[in-house]
This record gives sequence, C-alpha cells and structure tokens, in this order.
Amino acid sequence: MMVYLNNKLVPQNKAFISVFDHGFLYGDGVYETLRAYSGVAFKLDEHIERLFRSAEMIGLKVSKSHEGIKRAVYKTMKANNQKSAFIRINISRGIGPIGLDTELCPKPTFAIISNTFKEYPGEFYKMGVKIAIVNVRRNLRDALNPMIKSLNFLNNILANIEGKNRGAYEAVMLNYKGYVAEGTTSNIFFVKNSILYTPAIDVGILDGITRYVILDIARELGIKYKDGRFTREGIYSADEVFISSTTREIMPVSHVDNVKIGTKIGRITKTLLTAYRKKVEEYIEEHR
Ligand code: PDD
Repeated sequence: MMVYLNNKLVPQNKAFISVFDHGFLYGDGVYETLRAYSGVAFKLDEHIERLFRSAEMIGLKVSKSHEGIKRAVYKTMKANNQKSAFIRINISRGIGPIGLDTELCPKPTFAIISNTFKEYPGEFYKMGVKIAIVNVRRNLRDALNPMIKSLNFLNNILANIEGKNRGAYEAVMLNYKGYVAEGTTSNIFFVKNSILYTPAIDVGILDGITRYVILDIARELGIKYKDGRFTREGIYSADEVFISSTTREIMPVSHVDNVKIGTKIGRITKTLLTAYRKKVEEYIEEHR
C-alpha cells in the first residue's frame, strides 16, 4: 500500500514520522475519515471544509489548498488502485522540540492513508448492533470542543474501552449535564412516534457529515425531526435507534444497555438507509 506523506507517495513500510512530531507527543493535530464508492470520495468537499475548520480551531495552518488536498486524495487512491476505500487525511502539528508552544513546529505533517474498504457484516444492518451508554462523559465543549475532529482521541478511547467491557459494539457518551451526546465515532438518532430525534450540536458533539445528509433526507421525505437535549431514558423508550457515520452510513441499534429496542431494522431507519444509499449513487454519478 502507498501512503501519501507530506508531498510524496511512499510505500507503507517507509511511511514513518519522527518521535518529535507533536502528533505523537501531544495528540496535536486534526483528521478526517472518508469513504469512497466506485472511485468517488463521498462528500469530499464537505470533509475537506471540516478539516480546515478543525485546523483553524486549533490554530494550525494547513500547507495545502482545498483543491490540493482533493488531488492528493485521488492520487493516493489511484496509486493503490482502489475504487472502494476507507480514507484518512491526517495533519499533525509537525516536528519540533518538546514543549507546548505551537511555534516550535514550523511545518505540519500531512498524511493520507487509503485502505480498501471492508464492508461491515450484513447482519449489522438487518438485526442492529448493541450499544452502551457509558460512564465516561463527552469532553466539555469549553475544554476541548467535539467539533474539532482532533487526533486527541483519549476521551473516545476511554469510552470505547468501557463499551467493549460491557459487550457493546459502540459506546455512547452523555455530556457533562447528562444529555445524550454521541458515540465514540458516530452520531446517534432515535425515532419515537414517527418523529426523528438527534442531539443538537450545542450538546457538544461532532456535527457529522452523515448526520447532515440524514437531516436533509428527512426534510426531503417529509419526516418530522427535532434536534435537542435528550436524556438516556428518551433513548430507552424509543421505537427505533440508529447510529451514523461516514463509514457505517446508517446502522440500526437493537439494544441500548440492556434495553431491547428491536431486533429488526425499524421502518423509518430503513427508509432513511435506502434514501441515503440512493443519495450516494446520485453523488457518484455526478462526480465520476
Ligand atoms: N468518525 N462523532 C464522532 C466523535 C466521530 O468520530 C464521527 C466520525 C462522527 C460521525 O461523523 P461523520 O458522519 O462525519 O463521519 C461523529 C469517523 C468515521 C472516524 O473517526 O473514523
């Protein structure tokens, strides 16, 4: 596999960065995960815009232009002969002596890793997955805003450890006030009496690109939706629950903690997933 590192494609076994990189020393950097279908990276512009937003929020100057990043993504996919891919764009603060001053690192490290996409088991979409609402709380917005898609992932990793110990596929965190925030790498939605609900951005979440696509679809299909503040009891009593992310699209949830939601994909979840996949197809046609 070839990796795009700074301005070159290098073989995977030569894709190294320094131990003095502040991405390694401090988790100082930002990233994006994308999914490509039939050689087209879905919502590439939106992901790159969010990458720039995250970089700006940590005072990191991106050395490439929007178009330059787009070209680098396709160059990496092409070098690996990939049509269906899981792509990660990573920018760290770069190499510098130990110390927190960002001026110690004059040049960010830029990398793109593109793996062939591995499909999730079909069962996950038919029967749903188990999630746990964990004790680890989502980072406080005023401390480390979840809108920054940062390399500093310990909050999510701690939640993941707890979720895994409880046998859950995904761990969902509450915010510091006890409102449902998001999964470790996903947003959460639920349906009650045919209304779609999802935590509002000001609860302290990453505003997922998939989340925006789902809300667009809901508008187009006339599905009523509300974003807001919801407690865990709201999720327990839902008719349908699902999680969303770039790689998973819309994945139904069968159990939340020990509460059974349903062991078959719900009606609205199914409608949204079908519409989502149609949107992907339309996008591919338009961007081929
Ligand atoms: N995760 N919330 C968090 C904390 C995330 O890390 C992600 C994405 C999402 C969903 O965002 P989007 O719909 O834009 O993918 C929500 C990606 C998939 C990852 O970490 O690999």
